[in-house]
Amino acid sequence: MTPTLVRPRKNPVWLAPSVLSADPGALGDAVKAAEESGADALHVDVMDGHFVPNISFGPSWVQAIRRRTHLPLDIHLMIEEPLRYFEAFAKAGGSTLVFHVEAAGEAPALIRALRDLGVGVGVAFRPETPFTTVEPLLSRVDELTVMSVHPGFSGQKFLPEALPKLRAARSAIDREGLSVELSVDGGVSVETAPLVTAAGATFLVCGNSVFGGGTVGKNLEELRAAAELGRRQRSEVR
Ligand code: DX5
Ligand code: ZN
Repeated sequence: MTPTLVRPRKNPVWLAPSVLSADPGALGDAVKAAEESGADALHVDVMDGHFVPNISFGPSWVQAIRRRTHLPLDIHLMIEEPLRYFEAFAKAGGSTLVFHVEAAGEAPALIRALRDLGVGVGVAFRPETPFTTVEPLLSRVDELTVMSVHPGFSGQKFLPEALPKLRAARSAIDREGLSVELSVDGGVSVETAPLVTAAGATFLVCGNSVFGGGTVGKNLEELRAAAELGRRQRSEVR
């Protein structure tokens, strides 16, 4: 069975290395290194050259990654008309499919389609989109992804406008007693990880900070310590 993002989970904050930042020629090694170093999931960025100005992985890549790891695969669909590709990415082994609220298609219908396929349901929103656009969907999804860069490329600078959105989402999730994974994507590093976990994020997508230099093991260890700092800070002020 395809592993999902659903709890129980061993770590309070999940780290999901984004394979977009890995060397495409050695993707299998990157996947193995991430799994062996304690990553909680893997994040796969799917781009179509229309919704974002870049092109990346298709279903056959997801299938290849799925064959090399037991980790849950968080599939970030930066594509127009995501409905057309849900089945392919579900069959390829995606655990949770995250569509963009700005992409073509009615969100409630997209959510139903993903439920019918038996995969986790995620919704992402761009830096220009206010939290209020996705708030009504919260009770129907498993994951909410706050974009902290403009989608399309790894290695960009973290946009601090994501922090108030994370705080608003965290309050809404807690207020309604939901178990939505609050994910943040873009520019997460040892410097920004404490800020996002203090704001309530529980799922950190990490591209360059994992695969951009040094060793995957050490990078993940440092990110985990940094994420834990913010999480503790948050639980102390509550
Ligand atoms: C950007 C992607 C991200 C990206 C993150 O469009 O959605 O997942 O790979 O990379 P970093 O962590 O380097 O910003
Ligand atoms: Zn992403």
